[in-house]
Amino acid sequence: MDSIRMAKIRVVGGNQLNGELPISGAKNAALPLMIASLLTNEKLVLRNVPDLADVRQLKKILSNHGTKITSPTEDKSFQSAALSFETPTITDTCAPYDLVAAMRASFWVIGPLLAREHKARVSLPGGCAIGSRPVDYFINGLKALGAHIEIDEGYVVATAPGGLVGTMLRLPTPSVGATPTILMAATLARGTTTILNAAMEPEITNVADCLVAMGAKIKGIGTRKLVIEGVKKLHGATIDVVPDRIEAGTFAMAVAMTGGDVLLRNAKSQHLQAALDVLQASGVDIVEESGGIRVRATGERLKAVDVEIDTFPGFPTDLQAQYMTLMTRANGTTKIKETIFENRFMHVAELTRFGAKIEIEGQGATVSGVKTLKGAQVMATDLRASVSLIIAGLVASGETIVSRVYHLDRGFERLEEKLSACGAKVERIND
Ligand code: UD1
Repeated sequence: MDSIRMAKIRVVGGNQLNGELPISGAKNAALPLMIASLLTNEKLVLRNVPDLADVRQLKKILSNHGTKITSPTEDKSFQSAALSFETPTITDTCAPYDLVAAMRASFWVIGPLLAREHKARVSLPGGCAIGSRPVDYFINGLKALGAHIEIDEGYVVATAPGGLVGTMLRLPTPSVGATPTILMAATLARGTTTILNAAMEPEITNVADCLVAMGAKIKGIGTRKLVIEGVKKLHGATIDVVPDRIEAGTFAMAVAMTGGDVLLRNAKSQHLQAALDVLQASGVDIVEESGGIRVRATGERLKAVDVEIDTFPGFPTDLQAQYMTLMTRANGTTKIKETIFENRFMHVAELTRFGAKIEIEGQGATVSGVKTLKGAQVMATDLRASVSLIIAGLVASGETIVSRVYHLDRGFERLEEKLSACGAKVERIND
């Protein structure tokens, strides 16, 4: 871990991006899909799983529950690999602190463990420090399904001796974490469950489609109302992980920043429309092609366009830092309002090191565009913020050194390799 912590990324700015950037499978879909494999004793094959630190961490957690993980095929190109997950029996219903603390999504195993084994003991989660990120929606949702829940020494201890029972519940906000967790739990509950105000992000739809392929009965997929009719057993299936819309959006912003002409191979515009609309309004040329999305830009100053973050289909919070970075060089003043997390402006202090002018007031940031950015030594603060510093470095004069890149490795597959293949000067260095 120490050697990973010491790795840094060096960026030399000033090169346009040209060519193709292949989009990997989405981290935020791969994680819940992997967790869904706990619901059956048969094999779940996932294609297009990205090779990321978070995926490797979840493999450890699943192995601890008894999951056997194998690689049926290995594609050596940029296409991510297929992996199969098989849990003949759940050997341990406890997800311990040392495994769960590094990544919030690992908490979601509580849904399938409870559904299949009627008990679970799962450590309260960790993850990116971008807000308080409580788990009350999960707890209340599982309680509504009949679980008895206690908090014991930092663990959520859930039991449902007679099994879970269908119910009607409303999420206070359409939570990306609580929705698939409660959905997974409900697939094996007795009777019908209705989840109101459900998240409808493409990754949630991917999970719901997977559950249906495994034999679950779900109506309303892709809407705010999911209706699940519980079944006794789920079976194996083979499913593709959807392309990562956040990686695609990040690359689109990188091209908008540097200028150039890049095809985002496999990217789906319907997963990213709000962000693409904003880029287009600011002066970037976006064309949908059969192989993906083409992004063309001159590298000249873009128009400032205000953005308010929202749940899907709105502008995603996971692209907020990257967009703010793009707007640091825009012509005019941009207002960005974060509505999902209360502490997601940690990149602002780092961006000012490049010469950016940004003021924060509450949940809002005002970016006053400057003509040029200057390379700097900066520190990654969380996963999405870390890539925004690399985007800034791509256009800043001189050299940028980004430290704490382990954040980046949690969610971006072979980033340096991909960007370098399009003409960027980005490399990993060690202290
Ligand atoms: C997920 C994504 C993350 C993304 C976020 C919003 C994964 C692995 N992570 O995070 O990349 O930035 O969605 O799109 O998919 N909340 C509560 N109580 C709860 C649950 C959530 O108050 O029990 C609040 C959170 O504090 C936050 C908001 O609801 O303010 C959104 O949370 P949620 O949608 O669940 O996001 P995450 O699962 O944390």
